[in-house]
Amino acid sequence: MNVEYDTLIPNNVNLSSDKKVLKALERWHPGYINWWNDLGPTGFQNSLVYLRTAISVDREGWAKFDYVKMPEYRWGILLAPEKEGRTIPCGEHYGDPVWQEVPGEYRSMLRRLIVIQGDTEPASIEQQRHLGQTAPSLYDLRNLFQVNVEEGRHLWAMVYLLQKYFGSDGREEANELLNRQSGSEDAPRMLGAFNEVTPDWLSFFMFTSFTDRDGKMQLEALAQSGFDPLSRTCRFMLTEEAHHMFVGENGVRRVIKKTCEEMAKAGITNPYDIEKIRNLGVIDLPTIQKKINLHFSLSLDLFGSEISTNAANTFTAGVKGRFWETKIKDDHILKNDTYPIMDFENNKIVKKDASALLSLNMRLRDDYIKDSSVGTKRWNRTINSFNIDFEMKLPFEGFNRKIGSFMNANITPEGEVISKENWNKKSDEYLPTKDDNMFIESLMKPVYEIGKFASWISEPDQGIDNKSGDFEYVKIHDA
Ligand SMILES: [Fe+2]
Ligand SMILES: [Fe+2]
Repeated sequence: MNVEYDTLIPNNVNLSSDKKVLKALERWHPGYINWWNDLGPTGFQNSLVYLRTAISVDREGWAKFDYVKMPEYRWGILLAPEKEGRTIPCGEHYGDPVWQEVPGEYRSMLRRLIVIQGDTEPASIEQQRHLGQTAPSLYDLRNLFQVNVEEGRHLWAMVYLLQKYFGSDGREEANELLNRQSGSEDAPRMLGAFNEVTPDWLSFFMFTSFTDRDGKMQLEALAQSGFDPLSRTCRFMLTEEAHHMFVGENGVRRVIKKTCEEMAKAGITNPYDIEKIRNLGVIDLPTIQKKINLHFSLSLDLFGSEISTNAANTFTAGVKGRFWETKIKDDHILKNDTYPIMDFENNKIVKKDASALLSLNMRLRDDYIKDSSVGTKRWNRTINSFNIDFEMKLPFEGFNRKIGSFMNANITPEGEVISKENWNKKSDEYLPTKDDNMFIESLMKPVYEIGKFASWISEPDQGIDNKSGDFEYVKIHDA
């Protein structure tokens, strides 16, 4: 499954013989480049960045690394190979051959899912656009831009589906994806978390750890779709998404490591000795925990309400599955099954059984929480290795929620229900305060010297593409 590179738009979907779609994409392309120039990364558009580009969709060796100017990145249309004999893995069409065309009855449902997914991709680029100005190293700068160009490619992936399978309204939606803007009053991005700013690099690492991981779960669910082109698209996007989460998880780990290192050097054993620790030019562990609390709770909101007829309908239609649907041992129809959910009733957290079909959001969120806890374990291993008595924890899922059963609840990160009054008194201990954010911001000074890192983050264990520590990941000055 090699990728055609001779056309303007690299692809493995035989675009050169699909004139109508090729034309639609070529017409969309200039608008995309304008959008990238206006709302993509500020600065560095002429710098040479050491980026990976997909040259095949096989698991091994899909990437080629080279210096590229970002606006010249080869964004393309890449679908994972067709699985022969694939059948619809869930819902009322369970076991039927997958669809290669959009079934009429599910047309608007599918279009909406694709548009929502598509909307998050440019949104995150917009949210992260100023970060290049304060990068802690060239290595990190390169990773940011890699994430950005790949989110750009994910937008292309969704636009291809819209233009190929949804006719003129698909083309209209594709244009709208370039018109909405993160944080805009008139035309904001569709989901709340994608209208928040990503003001600093710790936020970026948290975002790529937690919000990109929500993206992973959504893509996993869409990869189960009975609409095969969507499934194949998402399967390939997942291989890219894995790198984004690596950037986030590893980024947070390197911040933690540097804090621990400096504490050890200065002989500080109490992680709550905040002033002393901050004076070392590193971010204290309690503040990092508050950032986890914030980004984790924002990301949980992306799963929507625990009980959702929408989720039930997309599942029953066979348009969206569960995480690793084909590995689950049940009837994949769920008409008579229950699922344990959490609810908030009479100011109490209750566990109860609900219809499995209606609880699919909750289930995906549970899978997400399990997946997220792998990261916290790694972070804690780092803290442990310095013998510091502190443990990073994912907050309770009802903490700080704006969507779903817990939206009006006042619950601590430990899962204790408290009064509104107490919440107001204590929320500064749970979530980053203005002071915390100002301190983090004060550390955000760019380091563009080859092989050097900002005071608050340790260097990575390993370079990208096995490059050594003095590799010039971004040639800033060649512009
Ligand atoms: Fe993405
Ligand atoms: Fe991503």
